[in-house]
Amino acid sequence: MSAKQPVLDAVIVLAAGRSRRMAGETPKVLKRLAGAPMIAHVIRAVEPLQAHQILCVLPPPPHGTDIHSHIPTTVYVPQDKPLGTADAVSCAVRSLPSLATGAKGDTLILFGDTPLVETTLLRELLAHRHRTDAGLVLAAVHEEPPCDYGRLITNAQGHIERIVEAHNATPEQYALTLNNGGIFVVKTAHLAPLLHAVTQNPKSGEYDLTQIVQHATQKTIPVNYLMADSESLHGVNTLSALAQAESLMQMRLRQRALDNGVQLIDPSTTTLSYDSQFGTQVTLEPHVVIGTNVRIGDRSTIRAFSSIEGAQIDTDATIGPYARIRPSSIIGTHSRIGNFVEIKNARIGKHTNINHLSYIGDATVGDNVNIGAGVITCNYDGKNKHTTIIEDNAFIGSNCALIAPLTIEKKAVVAAGSTLTQDVPSGALGVARCRQKTIPRYKRAP
Ligand code: UD1
Ligand code: CA
Repeated sequence: MSAKQPVLDAVIVLAAGRSRRMAGETPKVLKRLAGAPMIAHVIRAVEPLQAHQILCVLPPPPHGTDIHSHIPTTVYVPQDKPLGTADAVSCAVRSLPSLATGAKGDTLILFGDTPLVETTLLRELLAHRHRTDAGLVLAAVHEEPPCDYGRLITNAQGHIERIVEAHNATPEQYALTLNNGGIFVVKTAHLAPLLHAVTQNPKSGEYDLTQIVQHATQKTIPVNYLMADSESLHGVNTLSALAQAESLMQMRLRQRALDNGVQLIDPSTTTLSYDSQFGTQVTLEPHVVIGTNVRIGDRSTIRAFSSIEGAQIDTDATIGPYARIRPSSIIGTHSRIGNFVEIKNARIGKHTNINHLSYIGDATVGDNVNIGAGVITCNYDGKNKHTTIIEDNAFIGSNCALIAPLTIEKKAVVAAGSTLTQDVPSGALGVARCRQKTIPRYKRAP
Protein backbone atom coordinates (compact mmCIF):
# COMPACT_ATOMS: atom_id res chain seq x y z
CA MET A 1 0.00 0.00 0.00
CA SER A 2 1.46 3.38 -0.99
CA ALA A 3 1.97 6.05 1.66
CA LYS A 4 -0.67 8.20 -0.02
CA GLN A 5 -3.38 5.52 0.10
CA PRO A 6 -6.21 6.98 2.21
CA VAL A 7 -7.04 5.31 5.47
CA LEU A 8 -10.13 3.20 5.78
CA ASP A 9 -12.07 4.98 8.52
CA ALA A 10 -14.72 2.32 8.75
CA VAL A 11 -16.39 -0.61 7.10
CA ILE A 12 -20.17 -0.61 7.55
CA VAL A 13 -21.86 -3.96 7.02
CA LEU A 14 -25.64 -3.85 6.74
CA ALA A 15 -27.34 -6.88 8.18
CA ALA A 16 -30.58 -5.65 9.75
CA GLY A 17 -33.84 -5.39 7.85
CA ARG A 18 -36.79 -7.68 7.55
CA SER A 19 -35.74 -10.75 5.50
CA ARG A 20 -39.22 -10.59 3.98
CA ARG A 21 -38.33 -12.84 1.06
CA MET A 22 -37.01 -15.69 3.15
CA ALA A 23 -39.16 -18.10 5.18
CA GLY A 24 -38.51 -18.89 8.84
CA GLU A 25 -37.54 -17.19 12.08
CA THR A 26 -33.74 -17.31 11.62
CA PRO A 27 -32.32 -13.93 10.57
CA LYS A 28 -31.32 -14.17 6.92
CA VAL A 29 -27.65 -13.38 7.52
CA LEU A 30 -27.34 -16.36 9.88
CA LYS A 31 -28.33 -18.82 7.15
CA ARG A 32 -25.30 -21.04 6.61
CA LEU A 33 -23.12 -21.38 3.56
CA ALA A 34 -20.44 -24.08 3.53
CA GLY A 35 -20.88 -24.35 7.30
CA ALA A 36 -20.59 -20.68 8.30
CA PRO A 37 -23.28 -17.99 8.60
CA MET A 38 -23.43 -15.68 5.55
CA ILE A 39 -22.45 -12.69 7.66
CA ALA A 40 -19.28 -14.46 8.89
CA HIS A 41 -18.15 -14.93 5.27
CA VAL A 42 -18.58 -11.20 4.66
CA ILE A 43 -16.65 -10.28 7.81
CA ARG A 44 -13.85 -12.68 6.84
CA ALA A 45 -13.51 -10.84 3.51
CA VAL A 46 -13.45 -7.46 5.26
CA GLU A 47 -11.01 -8.15 8.11
CA PRO A 48 -7.75 -8.07 6.10
CA LEU A 49 -8.54 -4.48 5.01
CA GLN A 50 -7.60 -3.33 8.52
CA ALA A 51 -10.27 -0.66 8.83
CA HIS A 52 -10.26 1.38 12.01
CA GLN A 53 -13.65 -0.07 12.83
CA ILE A 54 -15.96 -2.70 11.40
CA LEU A 55 -19.47 -1.56 12.26
CA CYS A 56 -22.18 -4.12 11.77
CA VAL A 57 -25.74 -2.83 11.62
CA LEU A 58 -27.98 -5.52 13.08
CA PRO A 59 -31.55 -5.83 14.32
CA PRO A 60 -32.22 -5.01 17.98
CA PRO A 61 -31.78 -7.80 20.58
CA PRO A 62 -32.40 -10.71 20.78
CA HIS A 63 -31.79 -11.35 17.03
CA GLY A 64 -29.03 -8.72 16.84
CA THR A 65 -27.09 -10.08 19.82
CA ASP A 66 -27.46 -13.58 18.42
CA ILE A 67 -25.98 -12.48 15.08
CA HIS A 68 -23.23 -10.50 16.80
CA SER A 69 -22.10 -13.57 18.76
CA HIS A 70 -20.95 -15.03 15.40
CA ILE A 71 -18.88 -11.94 14.49
CA PRO A 72 -17.33 -10.79 17.77
CA THR A 73 -14.57 -8.73 16.10
CA THR A 74 -17.14 -6.20 14.89
CA VAL A 75 -18.97 -3.37 16.66
CA TYR A 76 -22.68 -4.05 17.10
CA VAL A 77 -24.84 -1.13 15.88
CA PRO A 78 -28.55 -1.82 16.44
CA GLN A 79 -31.05 -0.48 13.92
CA ASP A 80 -34.24 -0.20 15.96
CA LYS A 81 -36.62 -0.17 13.01
CA PRO A 82 -35.91 -1.54 9.53
CA LEU A 83 -36.31 1.82 7.78
CA GLY A 84 -34.09 1.01 4.83
CA THR A 85 -30.45 0.78 3.84
CA ALA A 86 -29.76 4.55 4.13
CA ASP A 87 -31.27 4.58 7.62
CA ALA A 88 -29.05 1.60 8.53
CA VAL A 89 -25.93 3.49 7.41
CA SER A 90 -27.10 6.56 9.35
CA CYS A 91 -27.32 4.41 12.50
CA ALA A 92 -23.67 3.41 11.96
CA VAL A 93 -22.57 7.01 11.36
CA ARG A 94 -24.36 8.17 14.53
CA SER A 95 -22.62 5.44 16.53
CA LEU A 96 -19.16 6.68 15.47
CA PRO A 97 -19.10 10.49 15.70
CA SER A 98 -15.75 10.80 13.89
CA LEU A 99 -17.50 9.58 10.70
CA ALA A 100 -19.78 12.62 10.76
CA THR A 101 -17.09 15.11 11.70
CA GLY A 102 -14.09 15.41 9.53
CA ALA A 103 -12.69 11.91 9.03
CA LYS A 104 -10.28 12.21 6.11
CA GLY A 105 -10.30 8.67 4.76
CA ASP A 106 -12.79 6.35 3.09
CA THR A 107 -15.78 4.39 4.28
CA LEU A 108 -16.67 1.08 2.72
CA ILE A 109 -20.32 0.03 2.84
CA LEU A 110 -21.45 -3.46 1.96
CA PHE A 111 -24.29 -5.88 2.62
CA GLY A 112 -24.37 -8.88 4.93
CA ASP A 113 -26.42 -10.86 2.40
CA THR A 114 -23.66 -10.90 -0.23
CA PRO A 115 -21.56 -13.74 1.16
CA LEU A 116 -19.38 -14.51 -1.87
CA VAL A 117 -17.62 -11.17 -1.80
CA GLU A 118 -13.81 -11.44 -1.66
CA THR A 119 -11.09 -9.23 -0.20
CA THR A 120 -9.48 -8.75 -3.63
CA LEU A 121 -12.57 -7.04 -5.03
CA LEU A 122 -12.84 -4.77 -1.98
CA ARG A 123 -9.18 -3.77 -2.35
CA GLU A 124 -9.75 -3.06 -6.06
CA LEU A 125 -12.70 -0.80 -5.25
CA LEU A 126 -10.71 1.13 -2.64
CA ALA A 127 -7.79 1.52 -5.06
CA HIS A 128 -10.17 2.62 -7.83
CA ARG A 129 -11.70 5.28 -5.57
CA HIS A 130 -8.23 6.57 -4.80
CA ARG A 131 -6.95 6.41 -8.40
CA THR A 132 -9.94 8.20 -9.92
CA ASP A 133 -10.36 10.57 -6.95
CA ALA A 134 -14.12 10.04 -7.18
CA GLY A 135 -16.21 10.92 -4.13
CA LEU A 136 -18.23 7.76 -4.52
CA VAL A 137 -17.43 4.46 -6.22
CA LEU A 138 -19.75 1.53 -6.50
CA ALA A 139 -19.45 -2.04 -7.71
CA ALA A 140 -21.53 -2.75 -10.80
CA VAL A 141 -22.64 -6.15 -12.06
CA HIS A 142 -23.97 -7.27 -15.40
CA GLU A 143 -27.14 -9.34 -15.08
CA GLU A 144 -29.96 -9.93 -17.53
CA PRO A 145 -33.49 -9.30 -16.29
CA PRO A 146 -35.45 -10.68 -14.56
CA CYS A 147 -33.36 -9.81 -11.50
CA ASP A 148 -34.08 -7.61 -8.48
CA TYR A 149 -30.91 -5.51 -8.45
CA GLY A 150 -31.11 -1.72 -8.65
CA ARG A 151 -30.55 -0.52 -12.24
CA LEU A 152 -27.75 1.98 -12.92
CA ILE A 153 -29.05 4.91 -14.96
CA THR A 154 -26.25 6.50 -16.98
CA ASN A 155 -26.16 9.68 -19.07
CA ALA A 156 -25.04 10.06 -22.69
CA GLN A 157 -21.38 10.11 -21.58
CA GLY A 158 -21.84 6.86 -19.67
CA HIS A 159 -21.64 8.49 -16.21
CA ILE A 160 -23.99 7.19 -13.53
CA GLU A 161 -26.69 9.62 -12.57
CA ARG A 162 -28.82 7.54 -10.23
CA ILE A 163 -29.98 4.09 -9.28
CA VAL A 164 -33.56 2.94 -9.76
CA GLU A 165 -34.69 -0.07 -7.74
CA ALA A 166 -36.16 -2.89 -9.85
CA HIS A 167 -39.57 -2.50 -8.22
CA ASN A 168 -39.66 1.23 -9.09
CA ALA A 169 -38.32 0.86 -12.64
CA THR A 170 -40.17 1.70 -15.84
CA PRO A 171 -40.18 -1.14 -18.40
CA GLU A 172 -37.26 0.56 -20.24
CA GLN A 173 -35.25 0.89 -17.01
CA TYR A 174 -36.13 -2.67 -15.97
CA ALA A 175 -34.62 -3.94 -19.23
CA LEU A 176 -31.20 -2.43 -18.37
CA THR A 177 -28.46 -4.94 -17.56
CA LEU A 178 -26.01 -2.72 -15.64
CA ASN A 179 -26.85 -3.17 -11.96
CA ASN A 180 -25.90 -2.05 -8.48
CA GLY A 181 -23.86 -4.83 -6.87
CA GLY A 182 -24.37 -3.34 -3.40
CA ILE A 183 -20.89 -2.11 -2.42
CA PHE A 184 -20.06 1.57 -2.01
CA VAL A 185 -16.77 3.27 -1.26
CA VAL A 186 -17.34 6.85 -0.25
CA LYS A 187 -15.03 9.61 0.89
CA THR A 188 -16.05 9.77 4.54
CA ALA A 189 -16.33 13.57 4.42
CA HIS A 190 -19.25 13.22 1.95
CA LEU A 191 -21.08 10.48 3.79
CA ALA A 192 -23.14 12.35 6.39
CA PRO A 193 -24.31 15.14 3.99
CA LEU A 194 -25.30 12.57 1.35
CA LEU A 195 -27.30 10.53 3.88
CA HIS A 196 -28.93 13.68 5.15
CA ALA A 197 -30.29 14.37 1.66
CA VAL A 198 -32.01 10.97 1.33
CA THR A 199 -35.81 11.13 1.33
CA GLN A 200 -38.35 8.44 2.05
CA ASN A 201 -39.28 6.18 -0.85
CA PRO A 202 -43.02 6.85 -1.23
CA LYS A 203 -43.73 3.29 -2.36
CA SER A 204 -41.83 1.30 0.26
CA GLY A 205 -41.65 3.89 3.06
CA GLU A 206 -37.91 3.12 3.36
CA TYR A 207 -34.83 5.32 3.07
CA ASP A 208 -32.79 3.81 0.24
CA LEU A 209 -29.00 4.08 0.27
CA THR A 210 -29.05 4.01 -3.50
CA GLN A 211 -30.47 7.57 -3.46
CA ILE A 212 -27.04 8.90 -2.44
CA VAL A 213 -25.93 8.50 -6.06
CA GLN A 214 -28.36 11.11 -7.38
CA HIS A 215 -27.54 13.43 -4.47
CA ALA A 216 -23.82 13.10 -5.21
CA THR A 217 -24.49 13.93 -8.87
CA GLN A 218 -26.53 16.99 -7.84
CA LYS A 219 -23.72 18.13 -5.52
CA THR A 220 -21.22 17.56 -8.39
CA ILE A 221 -19.38 14.94 -6.40
CA PRO A 222 -17.78 12.61 -8.98
CA VAL A 223 -19.35 9.14 -8.98
CA ASN A 224 -18.10 6.15 -10.90
CA TYR A 225 -18.26 2.39 -10.89
CA LEU A 226 -16.07 -0.64 -11.26
CA MET A 227 -17.37 -3.77 -12.96
CA ALA A 228 -17.33 -6.81 -10.70
CA ASP A 229 -18.19 -10.39 -11.54
CA SER A 230 -21.79 -11.11 -10.69
CA GLU A 231 -20.83 -14.29 -8.83
CA SER A 232 -18.92 -12.44 -6.08
CA LEU A 233 -21.81 -10.05 -5.61
CA HIS A 234 -24.57 -12.64 -5.72
CA GLY A 235 -27.17 -11.22 -3.30
CA VAL A 236 -29.18 -13.67 -1.21
CA ASN A 237 -32.80 -12.58 -0.77
CA THR A 238 -34.57 -15.92 -1.22
CA LEU A 239 -33.97 -19.56 -0.35
CA SER A 240 -33.44 -20.19 -4.03
CA ALA A 241 -30.66 -17.55 -4.12
CA LEU A 242 -29.19 -19.15 -0.99
CA ALA A 243 -29.07 -22.52 -2.75
CA GLN A 244 -27.34 -20.90 -5.74
CA ALA A 245 -24.84 -19.24 -3.38
CA GLU A 246 -24.10 -22.62 -1.77
CA SER A 247 -23.43 -24.16 -5.14
CA LEU A 248 -21.15 -21.27 -6.18
CA MET A 249 -19.30 -21.49 -2.87
CA GLN A 250 -18.88 -25.27 -3.23
CA MET A 251 -17.41 -24.79 -6.71
CA ARG A 252 -14.89 -22.36 -5.25
CA LEU A 253 -13.95 -24.65 -2.36
CA ARG A 254 -13.59 -27.69 -4.64
CA GLN A 255 -11.36 -25.73 -7.01
CA ARG A 256 -9.22 -24.57 -4.10
CA ALA A 257 -8.92 -28.17 -2.83
CA LEU A 258 -7.98 -29.46 -6.31
CA ASP A 259 -5.41 -26.68 -6.72
CA ASN A 260 -3.92 -27.69 -3.36
CA GLY A 261 -3.48 -31.31 -4.47
CA VAL A 262 -6.61 -32.98 -3.10
CA GLN A 263 -7.90 -35.60 -5.52
CA LEU A 264 -11.67 -35.29 -5.88
CA ILE A 265 -12.89 -38.24 -7.92
CA ASP A 266 -16.21 -36.60 -8.82
CA PRO A 267 -15.97 -32.96 -7.66
CA SER A 268 -19.58 -32.09 -8.43
CA THR A 269 -20.68 -34.51 -5.67
CA THR A 270 -18.21 -33.38 -2.99
CA THR A 271 -19.44 -31.10 -0.21
CA LEU A 272 -16.81 -29.11 1.65
CA SER A 273 -16.77 -26.53 4.43
CA TYR A 274 -15.21 -23.09 4.46
CA ASP A 275 -12.54 -24.30 6.91
CA SER A 276 -11.76 -27.80 5.57
CA GLN A 277 -8.04 -28.58 5.84
CA PHE A 278 -6.25 -31.24 3.82
CA GLY A 279 -2.73 -32.61 3.76
CA THR A 280 -1.05 -33.76 0.55
CA GLN A 281 -2.31 -36.64 -1.63
CA VAL A 282 -5.66 -36.87 0.08
CA THR A 283 -8.38 -38.56 -1.97
CA LEU A 284 -12.09 -37.94 -1.61
CA GLU A 285 -14.33 -40.41 -3.41
CA PRO A 286 -17.77 -39.38 -4.72
CA HIS A 287 -20.53 -38.14 -2.39
CA VAL A 288 -18.31 -37.28 0.56
CA VAL A 289 -19.52 -34.58 2.95
CA ILE A 290 -16.89 -32.72 4.97
CA GLY A 291 -18.53 -30.66 7.72
CA THR A 292 -16.87 -27.87 9.67
CA ASN A 293 -13.67 -28.17 11.68
CA VAL A 294 -12.18 -31.16 9.87
CA ARG A 295 -8.52 -31.88 9.22
CA ILE A 296 -7.44 -34.76 7.00
CA GLY A 297 -3.82 -35.86 7.00
CA ASP A 298 -1.48 -36.77 4.15
CA ARG A 299 -2.35 -39.76 1.94
CA SER A 300 -5.65 -40.51 3.66
CA THR A 301 -8.63 -41.61 1.62
CA ILE A 302 -12.25 -40.87 2.35
CA ARG A 303 -14.31 -43.41 0.49
CA ALA A 304 -17.71 -42.83 -1.06
CA PHE A 305 -20.77 -41.64 0.88
CA SER A 306 -18.90 -40.84 4.09
CA SER A 307 -19.62 -37.88 6.34
CA ILE A 308 -17.05 -36.27 8.65
CA GLU A 309 -17.61 -33.38 11.05
CA GLY A 310 -15.45 -31.81 13.76
CA ALA A 311 -12.80 -34.51 13.49
CA GLN A 312 -9.14 -35.08 12.75
CA ILE A 313 -8.10 -37.88 10.43
CA ASP A 314 -4.38 -38.55 10.68
CA THR A 315 -2.11 -39.69 7.85
CA ASP A 316 -2.61 -42.84 5.71
CA ALA A 317 -6.04 -43.59 7.15
CA THR A 318 -9.03 -44.93 5.23
CA ILE A 319 -12.56 -43.92 6.08
CA GLY A 320 -15.68 -45.50 4.59
CA PRO A 321 -17.38 -46.16 2.29
CA TYR A 322 -20.53 -45.12 4.19
CA ALA A 323 -18.80 -44.09 7.42
CA ARG A 324 -19.84 -41.32 9.77
CA ILE A 325 -17.21 -39.57 11.87
CA ARG A 326 -18.77 -37.18 14.37
CA PRO A 327 -17.27 -34.29 16.39
CA SER A 328 -14.34 -34.61 18.78
CA SER A 329 -12.98 -37.72 17.11
CA ILE A 330 -9.39 -38.45 16.12
CA ILE A 331 -8.58 -41.32 13.79
CA GLY A 332 -4.95 -42.41 14.07
CA THR A 333 -2.47 -42.96 11.30
CA HIS A 334 -2.92 -46.13 9.14
CA SER A 335 -6.25 -46.90 10.79
CA ARG A 336 -9.31 -48.08 8.87
CA ILE A 337 -12.89 -47.16 9.60
CA GLY A 338 -15.16 -49.18 7.33
CA ASN A 339 -18.71 -49.28 6.08
CA PHE A 340 -21.62 -48.33 8.33
CA VAL A 341 -19.36 -47.41 11.23
CA GLU A 342 -20.16 -44.39 13.40
CA ILE A 343 -17.47 -42.83 15.57
CA LYS A 344 -18.32 -40.08 18.07
CA ASN A 345 -16.06 -38.32 20.58
CA ALA A 346 -13.52 -41.09 20.32
CA ARG A 347 -9.77 -41.25 19.94
CA ILE A 348 -8.72 -44.16 17.76
CA GLY A 349 -5.02 -45.12 17.81
CA LYS A 350 -2.68 -46.18 15.02
CA HIS A 351 -3.11 -49.26 12.80
CA THR A 352 -6.51 -49.97 14.30
CA ASN A 353 -9.36 -51.48 12.28
CA ILE A 354 -13.06 -50.94 12.85
CA ASN A 355 -14.30 -52.22 9.58
CA HIS A 356 -18.00 -52.98 9.70
CA LEU A 357 -21.31 -51.87 11.23
CA SER A 358 -20.14 -50.53 14.60
CA TYR A 359 -20.81 -47.62 16.95
CA ILE A 360 -17.84 -46.35 18.95
CA GLY A 361 -18.77 -43.35 21.09
CA ASP A 362 -17.09 -41.68 24.11
CA ALA A 363 -14.17 -44.05 23.80
CA THR A 364 -10.40 -44.28 23.72
CA VAL A 365 -9.14 -47.06 21.50
CA GLY A 366 -5.42 -47.87 21.41
CA ASP A 367 -3.02 -48.97 18.65
CA ASN A 368 -3.30 -52.23 16.67
CA VAL A 369 -6.78 -52.93 17.93
CA ASN A 370 -9.22 -54.99 15.89
CA ILE A 371 -12.89 -54.38 16.41
CA GLY A 372 -15.14 -56.92 14.69
CA ALA A 373 -18.43 -56.35 12.93
CA GLY A 374 -21.39 -55.01 14.88
CA VAL A 375 -19.60 -53.86 18.05
CA ILE A 376 -21.36 -51.24 20.10
CA THR A 377 -20.07 -49.12 22.96
CA CYS A 378 -23.18 -48.69 25.11
CA ASN A 379 -22.21 -45.24 26.34
CA TYR A 380 -25.55 -43.84 27.51
CA ASP A 381 -27.60 -45.06 30.46
CA GLY A 382 -30.49 -42.71 29.75
CA LYS A 383 -29.01 -39.99 31.95
CA ASN A 384 -25.22 -39.92 31.68
CA LYS A 385 -22.56 -40.75 29.12
CA HIS A 386 -19.82 -43.22 30.12
CA THR A 387 -16.41 -43.98 28.68
CA THR A 388 -15.05 -47.16 27.13
CA ILE A 389 -11.29 -47.73 27.04
CA ILE A 390 -9.84 -50.36 24.72
CA GLU A 391 -6.08 -50.64 25.10
CA ASP A 392 -3.37 -51.50 22.55
CA ASN A 393 -3.49 -54.85 20.74
CA ALA A 394 -6.90 -55.81 22.10
CA PHE A 395 -9.23 -57.90 19.93
CA ILE A 396 -12.99 -57.45 20.13
CA GLY A 397 -14.98 -60.21 18.43
CA SER A 398 -18.03 -59.45 16.35
CA ASN A 399 -21.42 -58.44 17.71
CA CYS A 400 -20.33 -57.37 21.19
CA ALA A 401 -22.08 -54.85 23.40
CA LEU A 402 -19.53 -53.08 25.62
CA ILE A 403 -21.49 -51.54 28.47
CA ALA A 404 -19.60 -48.48 29.67
CA PRO A 405 -17.85 -47.55 31.89
CA LEU A 406 -15.55 -50.35 30.83
CA THR A 407 -11.85 -51.01 30.22
CA ILE A 408 -10.48 -53.75 27.97
CA GLU A 409 -6.81 -53.90 28.81
CA LYS A 410 -3.82 -54.55 26.55
CA LYS A 411 -3.91 -57.72 24.42
CA ALA A 412 -7.23 -58.76 25.95
CA VAL A 413 -9.70 -60.66 23.78
CA VAL A 414 -13.45 -60.34 23.93
CA ALA A 415 -15.37 -63.31 22.56
CA ALA A 416 -17.82 -62.65 19.77
CA GLY A 417 -21.41 -62.11 20.84
CA SER A 418 -20.50 -60.96 24.38
CA THR A 419 -22.38 -58.38 26.38
CA LEU A 420 -19.66 -57.09 28.69
CA THR A 421 -20.29 -55.30 31.97
CA GLN A 422 -16.91 -55.93 33.62
CA ASP A 423 -13.36 -54.91 32.72
CA VAL A 424 -11.14 -57.49 31.01
CA PRO A 425 -7.57 -57.56 32.36
CA SER A 426 -4.51 -57.51 30.16
CA GLY A 427 -4.06 -60.70 28.14
CA ALA A 428 -7.35 -62.26 29.37
CA LEU A 429 -10.32 -63.54 27.40
CA GLY A 430 -13.68 -62.05 28.31
CA VAL A 431 -16.70 -64.16 27.40
CA ALA A 432 -20.18 -63.02 28.35
CA ARG A 433 -22.75 -65.00 26.44
CA CYS A 434 -25.05 -67.98 26.95
CA ARG A 435 -23.66 -71.39 26.16
CA GLN A 436 -25.13 -72.94 23.09
CA LYS A 437 -27.76 -75.59 23.70
CA THR A 438 -28.19 -78.10 20.88
CA ILE A 439 -31.37 -80.17 20.84
CA PRO A 440 -30.91 -83.28 18.69
CA ARG A 441 -33.52 -84.58 16.23
CA TYR A 442 -35.54 -81.43 16.60
CA LYS A 443 -38.81 -81.40 14.71
CA ARG A 444 -39.94 -78.12 13.25
CA ALA A 445 -43.59 -77.22 13.60
CA PRO A 446 -45.54 -78.20 10.43
C1 UD1 B 1 -30.12 -3.80 -2.45
C2 UD1 B 1 -30.00 -2.47 -3.19
C3 UD1 B 1 -30.03 -2.78 -4.68
C4 UD1 B 1 -28.86 -3.69 -5.04
C5 UD1 B 1 -28.92 -4.97 -4.19
C6 UD1 B 1 -27.62 -5.74 -4.36
C7 UD1 B 1 -31.01 -0.74 -1.80
C8 UD1 B 1 -32.22 0.08 -1.55
N1 UD1 B 1 -31.10 -1.62 -2.81
O1 UD1 B 1 -31.40 -4.34 -2.76
O2 UD1 B 1 -29.90 -1.57 -5.42
O3 UD1 B 1 -28.90 -4.01 -6.41
O4 UD1 B 1 -29.06 -4.67 -2.80
O5 UD1 B 1 -27.64 -6.95 -3.67
O6 UD1 B 1 -30.02 -0.57 -1.13
N2 UD1 B 1 -30.71 -3.77 5.56
C9 UD1 B 1 -30.58 -3.16 6.80
N3 UD1 B 1 -31.58 -2.35 7.23
C10 UD1 B 1 -32.70 -2.08 6.51
C11 UD1 B 1 -32.83 -2.70 5.24
C12 UD1 B 1 -31.83 -3.55 4.79
O7 UD1 B 1 -29.58 -3.37 7.48
O8 UD1 B 1 -33.56 -1.32 6.99
C13 UD1 B 1 -29.65 -4.68 5.08
C14 UD1 B 1 -30.13 -6.10 4.80
O9 UD1 B 1 -29.88 -6.97 5.91
C15 UD1 B 1 -29.30 -6.53 3.60
C16 UD1 B 1 -28.89 -5.22 2.95
O10 UD1 B 1 -29.18 -4.19 3.86
O11 UD1 B 1 -28.13 -7.23 4.01
C17 UD1 B 1 -29.63 -4.95 1.63
O12 UD1 B 1 -31.03 -4.97 1.86
P1 UD1 B 1 -32.02 -5.79 0.94
O13 UD1 B 1 -33.39 -5.59 1.45
O14 UD1 B 1 -31.54 -7.18 0.80
O15 UD1 B 1 -31.84 -5.00 -0.43
P2 UD1 B 1 -32.08 -5.51 -1.91
O16 UD1 B 1 -33.51 -5.48 -2.22
O17 UD1 B 1 -31.36 -6.78 -2.15
CA1 CA C 1 -30.26 -8.20 -0.80
